[in-house]
Amino acid sequence: MKITTCVFDAYGTLFDVAAAARQAAAGPGGDKLAETWPKLAEYWRLKQLQYSWMRALTGNHTDFWQVTQDGLDWALEACGLQGDTDLRERLLALYWQLQAYPEVPKMLADLKAAGLNTAILSNGSPDMLQGAVDSAGIGDLLDDVLSVESVGIFKPAPAVYELVGQRFGCSNEQALFVSSNGWDAAAAGGYGFVTAWVNRAGDPMDRLHSTPDHVLTDLTQIPDLARS
Ligand code: LAC
Repeated sequence: MKITTCVFDAYGTLFDVAAAARQAAAGPGGDKLAETWPKLAEYWRLKQLQYSWMRALTGNHTDFWQVTQDGLDWALEACGLQGDTDLRERLLALYWQLQAYPEVPKMLADLKAAGLNTAILSNGSPDMLQGAVDSAGIGDLLDDVLSVESVGIFKPAPAVYELVGQRFGCSNEQALFVSSNGWDAAAAGGYGFVTAWVNRAGDPMDRLHSTPDHVLTDLTQIPDLARS
């Protein structure tokens, strides 16, 4: 069945989540992050995701901005940087303007030129996502930005993936779901979407109930995949 709709995870897939820590390390007062920023970025992301899964499983939803701050606080403490409020504020501010990966604008423009629907489907709160979309300048290339806040539970809850069919009226087989998170691609594949896992880091395949239909190293091949 032909793909009509391409749906993207946001953080780590369109937007570089490590950029906040990397930029803070390169900016004023960043010397204390010179060596630790990769560890800080890794811990921050890990805890942000763990907390989102815990909150979904236990029915204790809060929005992704809160979970992002909670994850950062854990990561700062683990790196011995707790109490540095200036650094905390700088990292959080940078998270609102994460860089998009360089191939993102052309890839989205090619999808639009081919007449496909394009959207984000993300744990991010609507205002966080708007900040990232605006700073990347890709708002005109997206038909919609779908946030889990409309269902009040994080991925991988099926209610989140249901938002795609509700919004675009497509069947699951007409939707290509693209994520850099192996667990997200597995959940979306289990839900019934065609899936592409963007494995920039060369990570091992997750051992889960669904394996991705496509494994890519970046997003450049998405338009060809979607049209094939
Ligand atoms: C998102 C996170 C999971 O954008 O990357 O939903």
